Amino acid sequence: MIPANVIERLRCADHVVVLTGAGVSAESGVATFRDPDGLWAKFRPEELASMTGFLANPERVRDWYAHRLHVVDSVEPNAGHHALAALERLVPSFTLVTQNVDRLHQRAGSMNVLEVHGNLVENRCNDCGWIDDAHQAELQCKTCFGPMRPNVVWFGEDLPHDVWVQAEEATRRADVMFSIGTSAQVYPAAGLPYLAKDHGAFVIEVNPDSTELTPYAHAHLRGPSGVILPELISELTAA
Ligand code: APR
Repeated sequence: MIPANVIERLRCADHVVVLTGAGVSAESGVATFRDPDGLWAKFRPEELASMTGFLANPERVRDWYAHRLHVVDSVEPNAGHHALAALERLVPSFTLVTQNVDRLHQRAGSMNVLEVHGNLVENRCNDCGWIDDAHQAELQCKTCFGPMRPNVVWFGEDLPHDVWVQAEEATRRADVMFSIGTSAQVYPAAGLPYLAKDHGAFVIEVNPDSTELTPYAHAHLRGPSGVILPELISELTAA
C-alpha cells in the first residue's frame, strides 16, 4: 500500500526527478555493488574501476567490463524500469538521473535519462574522447590511436560536466525527488536528494533497506523497486 500523501504529492507535482542506483536493476539479475553478494564483495573496485587499475592491467579491466556488458546484453528491464518509464509519461516534467551504466532504463522506454556515471555500451578514447560501440572492443582509438577504455566514470574521475549540470539544475526544480535502489553513499550523486530537499522537494526513498538518506526522506517505501513502483503507478492512475 502506498501512503496517500505520496500519491497526493505526485498528483500535484509539476517536476519529478528520480535518482536510481544498482538496486533498480537487481531484479533484472544485474549484481549491485554493496549488497552482500554485490560486485565489491568479489572484486576490488580500485583494481577494476579506476585509472590506476586500468593502467596496471588494461586487459583485466577490459575483460571485466566486457563481461559486465555481456551480462546486461543478456538481461531485460524489470517491472521497476517499466514503471519509471510510465511515470515519465504521467507527469508534466520528468528527469531520470541514473548512476547505472546498464542502459536498462532506456530499453524500458525512459526518455529523459542523465547517465552521471557513464555507460557500458560505449568505449571512449582516453586521450581525445572519441566514442565507439563497446561491442567493437577496439583497443586503440581510430582517430588518434590513444587507448580505448569503458565510457564509465571511475573512482577519482570527474562526472561528465554537462550531464552533471543538467542533473543539478533539474534537482533544484524538483517538486518530488525519488531516491531508488541506491545506498546513497557515493557522491556527488548521493547529494542530489539533499539538494532537492533544500529546495523544497518532497523526498521519497524506495529501498528494501535503510540508508544514510532514510532519516532525511519524507517517505521511505520499504521494498523492492520492482514491486513498489508498479504499485505506485497503479494507485496513481486509479480513478
Ligand atoms: N529494489 C530497490 N533497491 C534495492 C533492491 C531492489 N530490488 N535490491 C537492493 N537494493 C538496494 C540495496 O539495499 C542498496 O541500498 O540497492 C542499493 C544498492 O546499493 P549499491 O550496491 O551501493 O549501488 P549504488 O548505490 O548504485 O552505488 C553507487 O557506487 O560503485 C559505485 O559507480 C558505482 O554507480 C555506483 C555507485
